Amino acid sequence: MKLSDTVAVITGGASGLGEATVRSFVAGGARVAIFDMNAERGEKVAAELGGGVLFHKTDVTREEDVAAGIAAAMKAFGKITANVNCAGIGVAAKTLGKEGPHELALFKKTIDINLTGTFNTFRLCAAEMAKNEPGEDGERGVIVNTASVAAFDGQKGQVAYSATKGAIVGMTLPVARDLAYYGIRICAIAPGIFYTPLFEGLGEDVVNSLSAQVTFPKRLGKPSEYGDMARMIVESPYMNGETIRLDGAIRLP
Ligand SMILES: NC(=O)c1ccc[n+]([C@@H]2O[C@H](COP(=O)([O-])OP(=O)(O)OC[C@H]3O[C@@H](n4cnc5c(N)ncnc54)[C@H](O)[C@@H]3O)[C@@H](O)[C@H]2O)c1
Repeated sequence: MKLSDTVAVITGGASGLGEATVRSFVAGGARVAIFDMNAERGEKVAAELGGGVLFHKTDVTREEDVAAGIAAAMKAFGKITANVNCAGIGVAAKTLGKEGPHELALFKKTIDINLTGTFNTFRLCAAEMAKNEPGEDGERGVIVNTASVAAFDGQKGQVAYSATKGAIVGMTLPVARDLAYYGIRICAIAPGIFYTPLFEGLGEDVVNSLSAQVTFPKRLGKPSEYGDMARMIVESPYMNGETIRLDGAIRLP
């Protein structure tokens, strides 16, 4: 799919990997609807990037929020051809810790945002994509979800987070099969450690020690590298049903 013909819904587009994806897509000529809870940052990004970008305050876990965001994108741009899902949270809690067993509410909240929120958004976007005029190969749309290397080598305290990311990986092939009939592709990106706002407050020592764990290049990922990978997936018609590690070959101990 040509980026200049793309209208993308990008969740989590107010910050970090999502924001970088918005910038990469806009630079390639796409129009973008940002769905995020953070209205202050989301409005700011949209205002900076101009008329081809709209912001819709959205909690991805809520069906009515995502449906309203899709209606706003359809009204502004007339179609949706791509959906990149970056909205997510990271949590740290062990299965059994000093304070007792993992809080069930925290586990459920993580599943709700990272997994159900992703599913909620792409299923509703797919319903709009299915109405598009087919392009080359009969293609009508592309979905990109965000997993994590924690889907494969999750660490202590990542039980809830890893469960959501493993599920994102697990959904990829069955969804590719479900949506093939409509000409819609889906891939997931499993990022390693990226320098997003989360890390800005952690200090140079922490960043250096994390960087040392990366095989090559020995640094954290740049959010723009995630955005460019998402863009490549949209532009590559034969990429489907796969999870791509984007991690400098890091394998977390
Ligand atoms: N940064 C990394 O190193 C890294 C590594 C692997 C995976 N990831 C994944 O990438 C994604 C983005 O991470 P990031 O580092 O850019 O984080 P971030 O905190 O910078 O951005 C996440 C965005 O999601 C939004 N959000 C959170 N809950 C939401 C909800 N319910 N509805 C709508 N928006 C919501 C936040 O407002 C925020 O703007 C997450 O899924 C994260 O798990 C990040």
